[in-house]
Amino acid sequence: MAAIRLGDTAPNFTAQSTEGSINFHDWLGEKWGILFSHPADYTPVCTTELGTVAKYKDEFEKRNVKVVALSVDGLDSHNGWVKDINETQNTTVNFPLIADEDRKVAELYDMIHPNSDDKMTVRSVFVIDPDKKVKLTLTYPASTGRNFDELLRVIDSLQLTAYHKVATPANWNNGDPCVIAPSITNEQIPDMFPKGHKEIKPYLRLTPQPNLD
Ligand code: BEZ
Repeated sequence: MAAIRLGDTAPNFTAQSTEGSINFHDWLGEKWGILFSHPADYTPVCTTELGTVAKYKDEFEKRNVKVVALSVDGLDSHNGWVKDINETQNTTVNFPLIADEDRKVAELYDMIHPNSDDKMTVRSVFVIDPDKKVKLTLTYPASTGRNFDELLRVIDSLQLTAYHKVATPANWNNGDPCVIAPSITNEQIPDMFPKGHKEIKPYLRLTPQPNLD
């Protein structure tokens, strides 16, 4: 399977998970999705990652995002490990973990990088929009836990682009000025961005974040 690229339709699959069988596209429904892999159950960095994701449930819900994790471990292993995550991270895992023992999904999404490790999945992230298009891919090594605040920040940016036709500049954070997309003409700006705008260069036009009061 070739690497999945931005704009591709996220491949569909049916797989067993800690919340029963999942048909990925049906399970996503009309929502945004995050599919993320972790190298192995009962490992320290993964334990902190999944605990963190559980604690961010409200943040994902606010953004209309469903989250699903995956590794090539089996269902019994996942279920046992979830108890450890709940105990050690002071949370309750509230999203499904796919048990991809036959590596079907890992191969479909190119999550095993054999020159890094031929048995475990790397730390992949796929953000998928409600049209099932892949909007972001990330690959982290096993030894580096991901920054889930950054993932929320990217989802905010993607949703601003999808719903308000703005992009976000370097190191943007919620509340900062946004960049008017180059596809928007100056004539369209007053109607589309009634809060006003500042033209620094003809190609660099800023506007207050459109979805805030
Ligand atoms: C971890 O989750 O701690 C981990 C997993 C695989 C390799 C290294 C670290």
